[in-house]
Amino acid sequence: MVQNIITIDGPSGSGKGTVCQLLATKLGWHLLDSGALYRIIAYLAFEKNISLEDIDTLTDLALHLDVRFISNGSGVDALFNGVNISDKLRTEKVASAASQIAILQPVRDALLARQKEFAKSPGLIADGRDMGTVVFPDAPVKIFLDATAKERAQRRFKQLQVKGFDVKIANILSEIKARDHRDRHRTVAPLVPATNALVIDSTALSIGEVVNQVLDFARLKIEV
Ligand code: C5P
Repeated sequence: MVQNIITIDGPSGSGKGTVCQLLATKLGWHLLDSGALYRIIAYLAFEKNISLEDIDTLTDLALHLDVRFISNGSGVDALFNGVNISDKLRTEKVASAASQIAILQPVRDALLARQKEFAKSPGLIADGRDMGTVVFPDAPVKIFLDATAKERAQRRFKQLQVKGFDVKIANILSEIKARDHRDRHRTVAPLVPATNALVIDSTALSIGEVVNQVLDFARLKIEV
């Protein structure tokens, strides 16, 4: 197995996605956006009218998912059956359903081998909730990126405003808190820092500062 793995776990809005993309580009490494896998299953559940409690059907979907990720220059696009569905995955409705599906152990188990396959030379940046604790427990560099819920809601609010959405910050904050609570308190692979993870609070940091802190920490463990 490839030795160069940096896991970055943390709640939504902590800056994980952007930091992971920048690191993958800078180092020329592969990128695993594990949240996209849970989002794709959630999206397909809506498309196919599958209940979020129908464990057998959801697990079957996870096992036979025909999905590929391709680099688009600034990140990765998700291709389902050859069709780019990335935009459809980024809604709050899909995110919330993804976090409901993510509490199901058989679905998580079904996605495990697929996630491990991303660990290829020259290296991998793994973005998620359980990258350092469950999927890549032997990774040499583990980060837990956090920020206050208020700051994370503000970041999300700005992103949506730029896209022209008419949203209320109070609604975003309550959605973020509900999803966090589910992710942090579930019995299966809860969102917690791995024991040897560097915890970075990004509340008052720029993306560049976070990237530099990750690289400084990584240099203590591996050659980057
Ligand atoms: O990271 P993202 O917001 O795309 O993830 C959507 C949801 O998928 C999370 O709220 C979480 O419930 C779930 N997830 C997970 N484990 C991961 C990645 C995401 O449980 N490794």
